[in-house]
Amino acid sequence: MREQKRQWWKESVAYQIYPRSFQDSDGDGIGDLRGITERLDYLQYLGIDLLWLSPVYDSPNDDNGYDIRDYQGILDEYGTMEDMDELLEEARKRGIRLVMDLVANHTSDEHAWFIESRSSKDSPKRDWYIWRPGNEGAEPTNWECAFGGSAWEFDEQSGEYYLHCFSKKQPDLNWENVEVRQALYSMIDWWMDKGIAGFRVDAITYIKKNPSFPQLAAEDGRRYAPVEQVSLNQEGILDFLRELKQAALEPRGAITVAEAPGVPLEQIHDFVDDTDGVFTMLFQFNHVDLDIKPGGKAEFIDWDMKKFKDALSLWQRESNRHGWMGLFLENHDHVRSVSKFGDDGECRDLSAKMLAAYYFLMRGTPFIYQGQEIGMTNCQFDSIDEYRDIGSLNLFREETVKGRPASEILDYLGRRSRDQGRTPMQWSDDREAGFTSGTPWIKVNPNYTEINVEQNMRDEFSVLQFYRRLIALRRQHPALVYGYYESLCEESVEIGAYRRVYDSEALIVVCNFTGHRVESAELEEILAGGEPVLSNYETREQGSLRPYEATVYRWAAATGGQ
Ligand code: NOJ
Repeated sequence: MREQKRQWWKESVAYQIYPRSFQDSDGDGIGDLRGITERLDYLQYLGIDLLWLSPVYDSPNDDNGYDIRDYQGILDEYGTMEDMDELLEEARKRGIRLVMDLVANHTSDEHAWFIESRSSKDSPKRDWYIWRPGNEGAEPTNWECAFGGSAWEFDEQSGEYYLHCFSKKQPDLNWENVEVRQALYSMIDWWMDKGIAGFRVDAITYIKKNPSFPQLAAEDGRRYAPVEQVSLNQEGILDFLRELKQAALEPRGAITVAEAPGVPLEQIHDFVDDTDGVFTMLFQFNHVDLDIKPGGKAEFIDWDMKKFKDALSLWQRESNRHGWMGLFLENHDHVRSVSKFGDDGECRDLSAKMLAAYYFLMRGTPFIYQGQEIGMTNCQFDSIDEYRDIGSLNLFREETVKGRPASEILDYLGRRSRDQGRTPMQWSDDREAGFTSGTPWIKVNPNYTEINVEQNMRDEFSVLQFYRRLIALRRQHPALVYGYYESLCEESVEIGAYRRVYDSEALIVVCNFTGHRVESAELEEILAGGEPVLSNYETREQGSLRPYEATVYRWAAATGGQ
């Protein structure tokens, strides 16, 4: 293992807020900045010290804020810049640092830069976005955007098409243009001056496009092929990223967690490494995307928990040498982990705690997504009218046109829609879960009467209290931060286990991924001589693990836990 530098953000525990769904303070049904400030005491009670805010910038909200109209303005629905300053100040008083979302691959089509760019072919900002003439009356290429349909949108006024890897209201910036890059660096500077700690860096692996703009081979009679083939982690991207680091991030000491789909394991050191890497942390997605066919076909594939743990341990092992992971099971683009990897019925409580122990004590900085800490589950959406996410709505429309039965698409969305992670935070059993006094912008999960923060605070054995114990444990044992990671019981589909070792200390985390008892002689050997320090059961039974049992053992000498 290469010795890792000790850094405060490695020792932190982070929490992600999706502002639209966190806490509404003014009754309009939409979460806001004041709502977040009101809940800072709760976050302090939970024990986190780093907060990632999904976008609160001014936006027409085509993609819930990931389409930015003004990087230096706050969306009215969320409040004002004064509210933002107040949130920063109140968070600071509680020892919580803030990370903003840096959306630099694209802006909104309502951003002043794009309005200027589209105004004429001679506009000084024409080249700030990616414009191409049509190809014999059709789109320049057959690229398909991430939300379905062509990645090109025709602009009547200038008679050309612009590129958008995401929605047509999210035109891609042209990173080849140095003025664009400098404008983004100034914006980064402006936010750092406000006292934020850094950024979660959105879709950053999309910024470089294949310069030859090739036509792609589309599969089985399809018209389009995924834009990712020509826009994800393309050759030359590192020149842009290294400049971004040197010109903007490093001079300000910004911490960064890069959303980096498309980065292969072999490249981890370029993206995230104490010395040479561009970013300070990295999110990889293999463990949450293991259930679908790659390439945007909205189809499930077979998977099991072995695949889940292999996806995680692969990156864990590599991070012993290079880089630092942002550890997560949920975010605003994914479903609830207890519904996907655990049991959101009878064993919800146990399996939510087991999953927590499994990912949280790995090597990296753990991120908790709002509601995960109380074991929030997926929600039953009864019809397409209850969905709000642009990706889900587009998918339903397109697949229906192709003749796919609505029930099949709704089944897919029930298990995959981004809206599953976006239902409002469940604070109490008051109306609308205490999220709003008005009508929520998206349905509240009806199970809020049983699953809510107040109930979790009252019950000393709740999922929330388990997270608090995990946080305390991680703070107490440097091995859980800096320790070497080693997988155990590697061949098992039922047990997930690993060891962390640092200085004179070793800890082992053992989890039963199933809803039945698992016997294991190997386990007793592994745990021999260790002291139990955390479990989701009150007692331990030798030689077996009960349904969804998670247990953590510790040895004071480095020779222990071998
Ligand atoms: C990733 C974000 O997490 C997602 O919500 C968004 O739609 C895309 N990037 C585009 O910004």
